[in-house]
Amino acid sequence: MIALRELTPDDAAALQRIYSPESTRFLGRRPMDAAEARKAARDAAASAIQSPRSVYVLGLDLDGDLLGIIKLHLDRPVATLSYILRVDAWGKGHATEAVRRILALGFGHLGLPEIHAKHHPDNPASGRVLLKAGFAPTGEHAGFTTYAIRPPQAAGSMPRAVLMLGLIDIHAAFNRIIGRAGPAHTAGPAAVRSRARGPTTRSG
Ligand SMILES: CC(C)(COP(=O)(O)OP(=O)(O)OC[C@H]1O[C@@H](n2cnc3c(N)ncnc32)[C@H](O)[C@@H]1OP(=O)(O)O)[C@@H](O)C(=O)NCCC(=O)NCCS
Repeated sequence: MIALRELTPDDAAALQRIYSPESTRFLGRRPMDAAEARKAARDAAASAIQSPRSVYVLGLDLDGDLLGIIKLHLDRPVATLSYILRVDAWGKGHATEAVRRILALGFGHLGLPEIHAKHHPDNPASGRVLLKAGFAPTGEHAGFTTYAIRPPQAAGSMPRAVLMLGLIDIHAAFNRIIGRAGPAHTAGPAAVRSRARGPTTRSG
């Protein structure tokens, strides 16, 4: 089962593999080169110790292998979600699992009223991920198909049991990051550990 974890500067090479030409095809961005990947990993680690936090950039980690990235942007009128997986990790349910968990973080710990997402119309797998996680289509904007989701108590869009399961998983992942339990491979730097304490202790 995947864990969601904070990134560290050591994740640069893995990031570059994730942001390949095939994975970035429908994202409106170029693949990452080595310098961009180093900067992205540094920026993600720095964002984890921001207060207030404007973005969650979390890695999908399977037994120490960084398979993908999921982002929750909070610096916009409505929070937005995006994700990308390494090509060899597609088709195994990992994106859907990651979206469910970050929804649990957004609606549980963060108390967000709504989350938006979008995908390119030629990328139906991404739309399927959003529908499976409980998002509803809202139309099109700037050439992308758009989606929204509200907390289960507001919209009934995601079964409460799924939300709670995701929240428990997220807490377990953050517990591993701060070294309370679990394998050492999820441990991050002191800065990440210190920031990760928020979701663990405050929602616990
Ligand atoms: C889109 C992406 C995240 C999907 O990740 P994933 O881990 O393969 O997704 P999942 O396995 O959780 O679910 C994929 C679903 O799409 C379906 N699917 C795959 N290809 C499809 C296609 N061409 N048309 C319709 N559905 C498709 C799968 O069957 C599966 O649905 P199911 O469980 O009902 O069978 C991954 O392909 C990716 O990273 N792509 C590049 C980046 C990107 O497009 N990001 C999204 C923009 S925000």
